[in-house]
Amino acid sequence: MTEVQKPTIERVQTAEELNDAFNRGLVELYQAVFADPPYEEKFTPEEVKSFFELYFLQGVLMLAKENTQNVIGFSASIPLVLEAEIAKIAENFGIDLEAVWYFADLGVAHEYRRQKIAQVLVQTLIAETPADTLIMRTSENNIASQRVNQGVGFEIIEGMEQFVDQQRQDGTVQSDRRIFLQKQK
Ligand SMILES: CC(C)(COP(=O)(O)OP(=O)(O)OC[C@H]1O[C@@H](n2cnc3c(N)ncnc32)[C@H](O)[C@@H]1OP(=O)(O)O)[C@@H](O)C(=O)NCCC(=O)NCCS
Repeated sequence: MTEVQKPTIERVQTAEELNDAFNRGLVELYQAVFADPPYEEKFTPEEVKSFFELYFLQGVLMLAKENTQNVIGFSASIPLVLEAEIAKIAENFGIDLEAVWYFADLGVAHEYRRQKIAQVLVQTLIAETPADTLIMRTSENNIASQRVNQGVGFEIIEGMEQFVDQQRQDGTVQSDRRIFLQKQK
């Protein structure tokens, strides 16, 4: 019987590792993960690469890979001050910008879901992030994301919200309500 191997979850430490991940499906994975409801977002490969370059250069980027080394999941955090729009909302809410990092991204490939890969991606991201507080944003309709993150100790910040306009797969621009959660280490 073939043994089912657990995916490896590691931080991206070098530019070569990031390039290797681009060649092993990271860009297409990101596009596929956010093409679904509730997001239905459309990103060019250049946009996706620029997000991951920022995470690698200024933040923490974790990847999950299966045994053939294809990328099947990602999580990332950056200092909150680098996310200007959200930093402004947080500041108005009395959050100390200098002390907080932003949990910027999370995704797992469809065929690998419900195997606790996101849970481990978030736990290891929290451990690697050099701040005692992380905040994150999610769609109020994204139950999977809220469950995963509440499962590792994130709590909803009551009253903090944002309406985000985004181009959908069909080309229209729509707005949806995002909520915020925080985790104190
Ligand atoms: C959210 C996401 C990363 C979860 O990945 P995952 O690897 O399947 O999550 P896990 O297996 O670690 O789930 C841990 C727990 O979260 C909850 N959960 C996960 N997905 C769920 C879902 N679709 N519905 C309800 N609960 C869910 C469950 O309690 C689960 O534990 P269980 O499977 O033992 O019941 C994945 O669904 C995804 O990539 N979604 C699209 C991108 C996205 O929304 N990212 C977050 C943006 S803020």
